[in-house]
This record gives sequence, C-alpha cells and structure tokens, in this order.
Amino acid sequence: HAALERLAAEIDRDATVVALTGAGISAPSGVPTFRGDDGVWDHFDEGQFTYGRFRSDPAGFWEDRIELQRALFGDDYEPNAGHEALAELGRDGYLDAVLTQNTDGLHGDAADALDDETPILELHGNARRVRCTDCGTRREGDPIFERAADGELPPTCDCGGIYKPDVVLFGEQLSGAVIQRARSLTAESDIFLGIGSSLVVEPAASLPREAATTGATIGIVNLESTPVDGVADAVSHVDVTDALPRLQSLLADRDRLE
Ligand code: APR
Repeated sequence: HAALERLAAEIDRDATVVALTGAGISAPSGVPTFRGDDGVWDHFDEGQFTYGRFRSDPAGFWEDRIELQRALFGDDYEPNAGHEALAELGRDGYLDAVLTQNTDGLHGDAADALDDETPILELHGNARRVRCTDCGTRREGDPIFERAADGELPPTCDCGGIYKPDVVLFGEQLSGAVIQRARSLTAESDIFLGIGSSLVVEPAASLPREAATTGATIGIVNLESTPVDGVADAVSHVDVTDALPRLQSLLADRDRLE
C-alpha cells in the first residue's frame, strides 16, 4: 500500500482531485469488463455495436443490443465498496470530479445514497436511458428495451424517430461539451487518478497524459498494468474494493489526527 500512502499524502481539500474510472470499478458489482480474461468482447463482436451499424441496420443493432445489455447489466447490480469510497471522498471534500467511461449508472447510485454532489461526467453516456435520434427526447430505457424484446425492432419514438441507447457507440463522436469539460477538469487537476480502466480507448486514454503535462500527480489503481503506468507517480495493482476504501480511510484517519 506504499503507492496509496504516497497518494494520500498529496491529497488534501485544497488540491483538485479528478478520478477517471472504467469497467474495473464496476466488475466487483458483477458488471463484466470489456477486456482481460472473459471480457465482453470475447463473447460479443464490437463490430455489431458501431454507430454505422445502428444507422444502416437499426433492427439488427437493437436485437444484438438487447443481448449485450442483459450480459452487461443482468438484473440487480449495485454499487460496490469502490464506488462508495469515491462517493465518500467526494462528500468529504477530497474528490472534485469523477469522469467515467462506464454507462452503468453506478457512480450516480453511490453518490445519491451518500448525498454526494461531486460532478460525475458520463463520457460514454448512460445505458439506463434511451434517446430519440430525431427529436432528441431522452427517457428511461427499461420500457423501451421491453418493447424491443417484445419485437418492436427498432423501437420508435412518438415523433416517428428511432430510439438509440443513450451511450456513445464505436465510431460516434462524444458530446463536445462533455469532452471539453473533462479536458478542462483534467488540466486543472493537481491529482489525476486512473481507476479500473485499461486506458486504451480514446479520449480517456489521453486524459492522464494531459494531466501529467500540466503537472498533476498521476495515480493508477488497476488490477492489470496500463500503458499509463510508465508516466504515473503511484501505481497500485490492487482490487478497487481494497484500494479505494483504504485510500478513503487513510484520509479519514489523518483528519481525525489533525
Ligand atoms: N479492481 C481493479 N481493477 C480491475 C478490477 C478490480 N476489481 N476488475 C478489473 N479491473 C481492471 C482490468 O484489469 C482492466 O484493465 O479494469 C480494467 C478494465 O478495462 P476494460 O475492460 O478495457 O474497460 P474500460 O477501460 O472501461 O474500457 C473502455 O472500452 O469497450 C469500450 O466503451 C467501452 O467504456 C468502455 C471502453
């Protein structure tokens, strides 16, 4: 835990701390990761979930997407100790923003449970919602997924437009506003944490390097090594449910001593 102690020593309420998270923080909640052993992309073909396919074959896209959502989100997945530790760090004034690549909504659940207001930027959107590609209406996804599973392929909005899961598909641009905000938070950060991500998919993979160029301390918490480990100041190849509660308790203990 030397790496975590080094990170804890740099984190204080005046420092701007930004956490970038990936599928690894939701793995302990039962949400499968995309890469690594038995990853989602070993069972599903990424090519079936591109924006191009959504546009050219929305019915086929939706048929496959229903299976993918079942595999990803099962029925009852809950935030785990990793999500909760980040929400506590936010509520205690240590964490200033969470940038997540995850679309499972679990950071929001943990934040709500703790009344934490730390901004959560969902870089890849949120799979619990759908959005009409014509009128832009966003709504709760479950009823629409039901309709699709019952044969409405693709499910359509009252305006006649086709619904799309409210996530960023391969080949689709991230929302300019979201990525701009993520970039400025990264540039402002004094400490930038990469948590539970293989850090190979852009733009997330570039954010830690951008933080390093503006002088931030880079911390990595990830079971496997990442391409960013080489430029990180502290690397902890430890499970998020072990590392994050430990980081949170190191800071809480220090508060008590002060
Ligand atoms: N604790 C810590 N790290 C973990 C844990 C855990 N319990 N479980 C898995 N990991 C690590 C793995 O070692 C892996 O490096 O989490 C990382 C997950 O990496 P990916 O599966 O590649 O997920 P992610 O980095 O979020 O993928 C980015 O790729 O498919 C697209 O849009 C999708 O958002 C996703 C993006």
